[in-house]
Amino acid sequence: GITDLDALEILDSRGNPTLRVSVELSTGQRASAGVPSGASTGSREAVELRDGDADRYGGKGVTRAVSNVNGELAELLRSRTWSALAEVDRAMNDADGTGNKARLGANAIIGVSMALARALAGTNELYTYLRLGGTSPRLPVPHFNVLNGGAHAPNSLDFQEFMIAPIGAPSLPEAVRAGATVYGRLRSLLQDRGFATGLGDEGGFAPDITRPEDVLALLVEAIEGAGYTAGRAGVAIALDPAASEFYDDGSYRVAGESLTSTEMIERYAQMVADFPVWSIEDGLAEGDWDGWVALTERLAGRAQIMGDDIFVTNPAIITEAIGRKLGSSALIKLNQIGSVSETLEAMRLCRDAGYTQMVSHRSGETEDSFIADLTVGTGCGQLKSGAPARGERVAKYNRLLQIAATTDLPYGLA
Ligand code: PGA
Ligand code: ZN
Repeated sequence: GITDLDALEILDSRGNPTLRVSVELSTGQRASAGVPSGASTGSREAVELRDGDADRYGGKGVTRAVSNVNGELAELLRSRTWSALAEVDRAMNDADGTGNKARLGANAIIGVSMALARALAGTNELYTYLRLGGTSPRLPVPHFNVLNGGAHAPNSLDFQEFMIAPIGAPSLPEAVRAGATVYGRLRSLLQDRGFATGLGDEGGFAPDITRPEDVLALLVEAIEGAGYTAGRAGVAIALDPAASEFYDDGSYRVAGESLTSTEMIERYAQMVADFPVWSIEDGLAEGDWDGWVALTERLAGRAQIMGDDIFVTNPAIITEAIGRKLGSSALIKLNQIGSVSETLEAMRLCRDAGYTQMVSHRSGETEDSFIADLTVGTGCGQLKSGAPARGERVAKYNRLLQIAATTDLPYGLA
């Protein structure tokens, strides 16, 4: 049984309000969880409930979501005993009644679901509870977002994220060391060339560089300058252009150019040929399904084609995409779908269809490291949690280091 449930309005890493939810079980076990929040959101994400009261936090307050946890959801959860987390998640969804969690708030529901998962893990490590049947836990390749643009930085760069992925590292601690070392090297290179080294929302540098190819060249220089091999044998590069944000009226607007979907695909093919880019997330806009199918086919066997805004961790959308051979990989974000059990269902669908998965933070984060455990437990082999800098980002990497130090789990891509 659940004896207590309560939520608090706290701040996320951008200074916007979010929720921390705490739960108590009849066993006396207590746990809490912090809710993340995105900026470049997919249009079909579960709905984050905000107050809309312009006099308070510019309308971004979450007191209504907090009240929904402390009132209606607490009453529902305390009303009976439950057999599993999935049953609670389903009951909250049913009580919401909208299909996209718009009435009670996906931010309220995911907070309860995460806190409850942690409480149910009890004195066991959280990752041992967050399992997919048939998959063994493993330590993931961290994808460090070292250079920010798009909706996450005020610079002139259209692509949102440039990540470094130490795929060839011999262990998780060595992967973290590679990430931090390359990040430091990149800072020096930017300084030497007179670029600003201020940070974007996810802790990557946000210099005024316009062409994505110029950033890729700089990253290769930073990787090699730090003493690593650029590529899958050492440190590879992953992109999240977040293309929905620069897609307008049928064309992609990149560095002052206006490209058709086909031209954008060829631009990526060239980048993959010229640089060690191993993964491209949201290379095309969420509505450009034909383009996505073409991109997947064009880069098959050469780069992982990952859907974020287009899939929004939604089992129904992912099922449709798999049927159309759209993409080869899914980004996984708990608050996009709004419950832990639906997130695990999305991951299971991907795994069974041969789609890889990467668990992800949001650009607005808390110090909660839940996603590190989700990544390890499901054994999906890939996590992105921003730069190897800033507390809310490193909380996840530090949790991985802790798990690595106390287990002998394998490291690397699944
Ligand atoms: P968001 O960005 O959290 O602002 O949506 C992260 C991403 O696009 O992957
Ligand atoms: Zn993304």
